[in-house]
Amino acid sequence: MTISVSHRVPVSLGDRSYDILIQPGILRQIGQVLQGMGCSGRVAIVTNPIVEKLYGRLVRRALTQAGFSPFVIIVPDGERAKTLPWLAKILDALVAHRVERQEMILALGGGVTGDVAGFAASVYLRGIPFVQVPTTLVAQVDSSVGGKTGVNHPHGKNLIGAFYQPQIVIIDPQVLHTLANRQWIAGLAEVIKYGMIADKQFFQYLEQHVEGLRARAEDVIPHVIQRCCQIKAEVVAGDERESGRRRILNYGHTVGHALESWGHYKKWIHGEAVGLGMIQEASMAQYLGLCSKHVIESQDDLIKRVGLPSTMPQLKFTDLWQAMQHDKKVVKGHIHCVMPQQIGDVRVVPLVRQSIRKWFSCQQSAALNVTKASGKLPPRSQRVKQK
Ligand SMILES: NC(=O)c1ccc[n+]([C@@H]2O[C@H](COP(=O)([O-])OP(=O)(O)OC[C@H]3O[C@@H](n4cnc5c(N)ncnc54)[C@H](O)[C@@H]3O)[C@@H](O)[C@H]2O)c1
Ligand SMILES: [Zn+2]
Repeated sequence: MTISVSHRVPVSLGDRSYDILIQPGILRQIGQVLQGMGCSGRVAIVTNPIVEKLYGRLVRRALTQAGFSPFVIIVPDGERAKTLPWLAKILDALVAHRVERQEMILALGGGVTGDVAGFAASVYLRGIPFVQVPTTLVAQVDSSVGGKTGVNHPHGKNLIGAFYQPQIVIIDPQVLHTLANRQWIAGLAEVIKYGMIADKQFFQYLEQHVEGLRARAEDVIPHVIQRCCQIKAEVVAGDERESGRRRILNYGHTVGHALESWGHYKKWIHGEAVGLGMIQEASMAQYLGLCSKHVIESQDDLIKRVGLPSTMPQLKFTDLWQAMQHDKKVVKGHIHCVMPQQIGDVRVVPLVRQSIRKWFSCQQSAALNVTKASGKLPPRSQRVKQK
């Protein structure tokens, strides 16, 4: 039986092609969707306790009604599920249930669950079918699409993994209503990123729908998810393994990742750090003469209006630089940074320490001048001498 969906986005990758289905309420029809693809048998649902409690029963019932035999593998909430020990536990459960090569793993949850479940699917029996059912905004617009799977290493995030595409991505925007507000707003940073890197019209749509975005309006969200998925699908189809254009998806992430690491992954959640990263990277682009002040002002204004943090912490250049070194995008001492030229148009620029250092100092003195002009000196702790 074919299900009618309001939005269907194809991801064209030859024999690894798949569809992204976006439809409010589709969770209830998930069994029929998978049946329509010719699947049958057992389904290993990988999820966490929070999502299991909210949607586990609904998904299991929908699968059972369509003739599947689902069973659940629970991983912990949060980043600690994205580790080798938890990957091993998922594999143990698959072995214990004697899951066979044609049976499938269904990732039900946010980016953490999707990343670790997808990696398990890529290595168990050298690869079994894998279905993404993302339940956070970050996962619906970003992590569930494109086939990056993996776990963290004690020395860095996402250091171990594989490119492994799902068979299908099933998105139910209704599940976003239970998401904590902080998680919701953080996801909006990735949404704004798509406008900045690829689509000025979409950026303008976001500017015009800030209230709807903040309120998770039903007439706004499915369209927003669809456009983000289309952009990601188009970029991934052209460069599946990130040897070129796919790098543009890292806009805001060079500084963003550095800030996350500097804050020990506690100060900001990912999307918040990406929002700050976009503000900083756009400022760098303006300093290098790549984009106008207007571009920066529009972007920063939207970031603030959706409720994302916009104030940079007081940090030393050496701390920032050191944190940036851990980024996988560092090649032979050059940091490959995505810089906006116009809204909807970015390019990748290799930068050396010296140019980032100059921009940083210049920005610091500008901040100091603003404070002086307002008649206030920054607190002593903030008047750090840069090394
Ligand atoms: N593979 C990729 O291409 C890619 C891209 C971006 C991010 N990521 C990864 O994704 C992870 C971040 O993903 P995330 O932001 O979804 O975090 P997450 O998976 O930790 O989810 C955030 C929180 O929301 C909860 N949650 C999930 N769905 C919910 C719902 N519908 N209602 C209520 N609560 C819900 C989760 O239990 C968790 O506490 C990081 O590990 C990051 O590295 C991967
Ligand atoms: Zn991101």
